[in-house]
Amino acid sequence: MKLYKNKVELQHILKPFFDQKKSLGFVPTMGALHEGHLSLVNEALEENDCVVVSIFVNPTQFDKKSDLKKYPRSLENDIDLLNSIHGDIIVFAPDATHLYGEHILSKPYSFSGLEFEMEGRHRAGHFDGVGTVLNLLFRIIRPNKAYFGQKDFQQLQIVKKLVEIEQLPITIVGCPIMREQNGVAMSSRNRRLNASQLNQAAMIYRTLKDVQNRFDQTSISKLKTRVKTLFEEHPEFELEYFEIANVNTLKSAERKRKTNTYRAFIAAWIGGVRLIDNIALN
Ligand code: PAF
Repeated sequence: MKLYKNKVELQHILKPFFDQKKSLGFVPTMGALHEGHLSLVNEALEENDCVVVSIFVNPTQFDKKSDLKKYPRSLENDIDLLNSIHGDIIVFAPDATHLYGEHILSKPYSFSGLEFEMEGRHRAGHFDGVGTVLNLLFRIIRPNKAYFGQKDFQQLQIVKKLVEIEQLPITIVGCPIMREQNGVAMSSRNRRLNASQLNQAAMIYRTLKDVQNRFDQTSISKLKTRVKTLFEEHPEFELEYFEIANVNTLKSAERKRKTNTYRAFIAAWIGGVRLIDNIALN
């Protein structure tokens, strides 16, 4: 495994891949790697000759400075984890001015309204930041395929739009959510929870499973009321949103239609940490 901080050096090492038309996979991350990230890297290695993993905590996608500051960072440990995987892996870990230039700002995007739902409603400018950094990384790395976890399902749909808007010939691959034994979706943010909070956090997945089991027989409004009540019974949580949304538009659904596909989404706070999760319903 090789580590590059400089984009020119990275592009130099990647040149033979473009020339020999070998396939390049890309796994963008903000570091603090866990099994979920490693599953993306493994999937990318199965489908490509070489995989680039970027490790970059992107300042423009954080709406609060305090959240950016608290975001876990563990480059050495990340490198050890990637070294434990067999395969041709290259790590790109630039610093912000090297990647963005002097002005660390995001570009405004219009993702056909996907950006205004759920995460977009609660985290101002978040998806402009995600779109901007991925556009920069995609243009430096020029992968054939890029891999994203479905835990950030809204991000996944937005990245598919981004490559259309930017006309980038990259296939976006969505990969299953990896979970802890108790069902909690793996996330770098889980590191900020203590053992008891991590235990309590399993309630989010239990609730999603409950919604999934009842979805066929229960109206959306009843499901919404039920979830609200379940969270009220757990004062350790602050529920930010619960939505049942159409997977294509991400718009909140009021009534089910047989031809539509839905997912349930939750964002909730526990111990000062914001967790998100989602599940397929039909
Ligand atoms: O999902 C993440 O970790 C980030 O949003 C991403 C895609 C690496 C962009 O900074």
